[in-house]
Amino acid sequence: MKILVIGSGGREHALLWKIKQSKRVKKLFAAPGNGGTVGIAENVPIKANDIKGLLEFSLKEKIDLTLVGPEVPLTMGIVDAFEEKGLRAFGPSGKAARLEASKIFTKELCRSENIPTADFKIFDNAEKAKEYIAKKGAPLVIKADGLAAGKGVIVAKTEKEAVKAVDSIMVAKEFGSSGDRIIIEECLEGEEASIIVVSDGESIVSLASSQDHKRIFDNDLGPNTGGMGAYSPAPVVTDEIFDYTVSNMIKPAIKGMKKQGILFKGVLYAGIMITKEGPKLLEFNARFGDPETQAILPRLSSDLVGLLEGSIDGTLKDYSLDWDERSSVCVVVTSGGYPGKYEKGKEIRGINEAASLKDTFIFHAGTHTSGDRSHPDTIPDNRDLSPSKVFTNGGRVLNVVALGDNIKEAIEKAYTACERIKFDRMHYRRDIGHRALKGSQAAGRRPQAS
Ligand code: AMP
Ligand code: GLY
Repeated sequence: MKILVIGSGGREHALLWKIKQSKRVKKLFAAPGNGGTVGIAENVPIKANDIKGLLEFSLKEKIDLTLVGPEVPLTMGIVDAFEEKGLRAFGPSGKAARLEASKIFTKELCRSENIPTADFKIFDNAEKAKEYIAKKGAPLVIKADGLAAGKGVIVAKTEKEAVKAVDSIMVAKEFGSSGDRIIIEECLEGEEASIIVVSDGESIVSLASSQDHKRIFDNDLGPNTGGMGAYSPAPVVTDEIFDYTVSNMIKPAIKGMKKQGILFKGVLYAGIMITKEGPKLLEFNARFGDPETQAILPRLSSDLVGLLEGSIDGTLKDYSLDWDERSSVCVVVTSGGYPGKYEKGKEIRGINEAASLKDTFIFHAGTHTSGDRSHPDTIPDNRDLSPSKVFTNGGRVLNVVALGDNIKEAIEKAYTACERIKFDRMHYRRDIGHRALKGSQAAGRRPQAS
């Protein structure tokens, strides 16, 4: 098979690494890929949002299966566009991807299907939103309706912060039309976790539980990022919480969409908050989580290609996956300054030394390998272009993943590997997995098909 993976992050590198293990794969492409995917796939210089370019390439190359990593092309309807031309693509249709693309769509679905979530109110007028804030008082959570690259949610501790959020989203239009409407919701307290499943529109297959770390600094301080690390399984997700989330959030959402004539195929990712009153839905994503995927996939023993095809073909009933019982930890290494301004083009040393450690995997994100001619615009000026030199090329740079017999061992191994990697102004959190260490040491949920 010829397989194309769309995207350029650590998630896509991990997906390609896993797909590469399938005996059925003849050739792999990454569009646009990164400095790590160049080692296992052919990088193609087409951007993830260039649906026309990706379609032309796939038709020309006769790609058998395309996996779409990021949410934006999914929302733009890339899967529909590929299907219209007779190409097989894994992921939800543009309509189904609204579950991620519109927070209001999802909240309304929660209301109609009785999915537990924070109380909320929808606004299309900034003044009315501010009156509501004054009436309710802080803390409150302000959310832009549409996609905002993970920045459209503000947890406001004071009324002033809440008003400022309304102004920047609705008045200054920081996220463009994504902020035409907003949600103001109750601020929930508890521990967060990610439950990710693959759906074929009827049946689902669950992946292992995981937990992300959103803030840039240790002890969950500083601004939100795309994700600074993850681990799997998440001990906080007991069998009971896992089953509850699948039965009361994931399945009702798929059923509710079906009532509206929308078949949900692809990845359905429930971000939940485990509150004193039980788990509540924070958000749905319509794609694999990043960096959760980097932590989950090294634990997956089964073939990934069969799962992707099962979703497309509607054959996931009774499908099951085998898992490595060990724990996995992913530490995200970033450029200094991220999520604010940062510099690119710093030479990274020690990747091979880190990757040679046992049960350790380095998945690249914002990197560029000097031998990779498919991205000439990203080659830093005046650099030595001999192959095998790797440079930073983004905010989140590398994902350092290790498997261990327990979470403690996985953490130690991941940090041993991190210490071997060096570049100017390199940053990573030193406390990835801290909640799992404090919490129960139970193995966490073994996932099943249902
Ligand atoms: P979302 O994109 O909706 O998942 O929001 C991003 C992050 O904001 C979540 O991972 C939480 O950390 C936080 N968040 C979102 N909604 C709430 C809420 N109702 N209460 C507390 N924190 C929230
Ligand atoms: N890790 C959060 C996300 O993928 O949205």
